[in-house]
Amino acid sequence: MAAQAETHPEIGFIGCEVFENGIVKLLGEISRRQLANVRIYADDARPLLAALAPHSISRIFILFPDPWPKARHRKRRLIAPATLDRLAEIMTDRGELRLATDDPGYLSCMLEQATMHPALAWTARRPADWRARPTDWPATRYEEKARKAGRIPAFLRFVRRPRLAV
Ligand SMILES: C[S@@+](CC[C@H](N)C(=O)[O-])C[C@H]1O[C@@H](n2cnc3c(N)ncnc32)[C@H](O)[C@@H]1O
Repeated sequence: MAAQAETHPEIGFIGCEVFENGIVKLLGEISRRQLANVRIYADDARPLLAALAPHSISRIFILFPDPWPKARHRKRRLIAPATLDRLAEIMTDRGELRLATDDPGYLSCMLEQATMHPALAWTARRPADWRARPTDWPATRYEEKARKAGRIPAFLRFVRRPRLAV
């Protein structure tokens, strides 16, 4: 996120993470790169999503959310129909939702739910579109760890369909 904020000083970024060490590392990057366009929400993402105004966010990245692989924990997954509904509300028309995961089960679930969502359109046309990370999207620390461990990440991009004029 720090790299993206540095490349786009004209855009405001909100970073959301509960893991304290991750926040501390980001604060170090903000200071080192002298960034003035980053706000941090160091808490659960769900109240943040609930508080954001409709039509206010042009791009959302949810990168390697915890997969909760055990069946009894699935309800803890962040990507779920209710979250997608809320994301669609806060996104601007033609805004982008970008998701990444290295968990095949969670990938199927993300794809099924997001492609069925009436407000979202998957941009992929060929396998390279989800196997390769777009160049404007730097690798996260978790992605690097996953690759070292031999896991293959997938990168999904969805565009928010324009709302119908009333
Ligand atoms: C697998 S890690 C990925 C971290 C980072 N996005 C990356 O790609 O390097 C998943 C992260 O999601 C964070 N997380 C899990 N549930 C969360 C929630 N409800 N709100 C905010 N962050 C959450 C965890 O603290 C953890 O650091």
